[in-house]
Amino acid sequence: MKIFIIGGGGREHAIAWRVSKDSCAPDIYCAPGNAGTATIATNLAIAADDLVQLREWALCNKPDLTIVGPEVPLCLGITDLLEAEGLRVFGPCCAAARLEGSKAFSKEIMLAAGVPTAKSLLFNDPGRAIAALDSFGLPVVIKADGLAAGKGVIIAATKAEAVEAIQAILVDSIFGEAGAEILIEEFLVGEEASILALVDGEHAVILPSSQDHKRVYNNDEGPNTGGMGAYTPAPVVTDALLPLIKTQIIMPVVCEMKKRGCPYKGVLYAGLMISADGIKVLEFNTRFGDPETEAILPRIAGDIIPALEACVDGTLRDDHIIVRDNAAVTVVMASGGYPGRYSKGLRITGIEDADALDECVVFHAGTRVEGGAVVTDGGRVLSVTASGEDLKQAVERAYQAVSKISFEGAHYRTDIAARAFNR
Ligand SMILES: Nc1ncnc2c1ncn2[C@@H]1O[C@H](COP(=O)(O)OP(=O)(O)O)[C@@H](O)[C@H]1O
Ligand SMILES: [Mg+2]
Repeated sequence: MKIFIIGGGGREHAIAWRVSKDSCAPDIYCAPGNAGTATIATNLAIAADDLVQLREWALCNKPDLTIVGPEVPLCLGITDLLEAEGLRVFGPCCAAARLEGSKAFSKEIMLAAGVPTAKSLLFNDPGRAIAALDSFGLPVVIKADGLAAGKGVIIAATKAEAVEAIQAILVDSIFGEAGAEILIEEFLVGEEASILALVDGEHAVILPSSQDHKRVYNNDEGPNTGGMGAYTPAPVVTDALLPLIKTQIIMPVVCEMKKRGCPYKGVLYAGLMISADGIKVLEFNTRFGDPETEAILPRIAGDIIPALEACVDGTLRDDHIIVRDNAAVTVVMASGGYPGRYSKGLRITGIEDADALDECVVFHAGTRVEGGAVVTDGGRVLSVTASGEDLKQAVERAYQAVSKISFEGAHYRTDIAARAFNR
């Protein structure tokens, strides 16, 4: 069996690692992959958003299943392109990927499906947007409609900041076309959690809950990043809440998408705000989350490829996914300076020692091989992951693994999963 994975971060290494454990022992190809995927797959020198080359490779090599990691190729229509050639793709078509690619579309679907979410208004005119600010309290949330690499959401503490954000997006076009429209949104208070579901167009299977850590420093301080770590399960998502999330959030969206003639297939990721007065959806992503995936996939037992194929075929059942009754934590080790400027090409040592520890696996995010050595090649460098009987054990193991690894300027949070213990 031939598996083609599009992407080259920690998420894609985790996906490659997980499918490599399946009983069919697949041949795995990654475009472009990283130094980690190179140890279990064949890396291809094709960028994840180079649809022409991706299609070309797939046409010549006929993978049995393509798994799309990042949102950009999904929103550009890689699934449609490959499916038109008779290939099987795990990931939504372009029209369904708008759930992530357009926050305005996502809101429209949520409203139509009766899914709880923050109140919001849509604008393309800066004057009208500014005039509407008084109908929102403070802080207020300003969101660029389109994909902005995780930078398109501004939480304004004052009206002046909100005006500045509106002008930056709608007048100065800091996000280009992605900021042609904005949502002004009510600020929600609560604790965030991520729920990922596998979806086959009609049915959904909920994966274990998780929580991401977006800010760069401990105690959620400093600027936002792509994610500095994650853990699963997230106790804020209680056993009582999980079925409600399926019936009140995931299934209504799946039904609404089907009704509109663009059935949703792939991973549907709901970013949730959980507060005393209920759960509200902050956003949908249309792919595996990064770094949540690095923590979640080690908890899936048995084979995973049949579940992914069932999503493509529309035959997904609950028993396609077996979840281990354990916990897992991933700690991101980042380059000095990240999320600001950082250098690349720094030698990394200790990965093998960390990997050798009990229930530990080091997923590479931004790495490459240079002269036989593994060197840094991105802001987020490694997702150091450990499983344990409970979160406490998983955290201990993950940080023990982190302590084995070094590269110049490395930094990481030391409080991943702390919120789970401070409840
Ligand atoms: N309505 C809101 N109230 C409070 N915080 C919000 C709200 N919307 C977004 N946020 C915060 O901003 C972050 C990013 O917003 P999100 O909608 O997930 O967009 P993206 O991930 O595309 O940047 C969220 O994880 C959350 O911390
Ligand atoms: Mg988000």
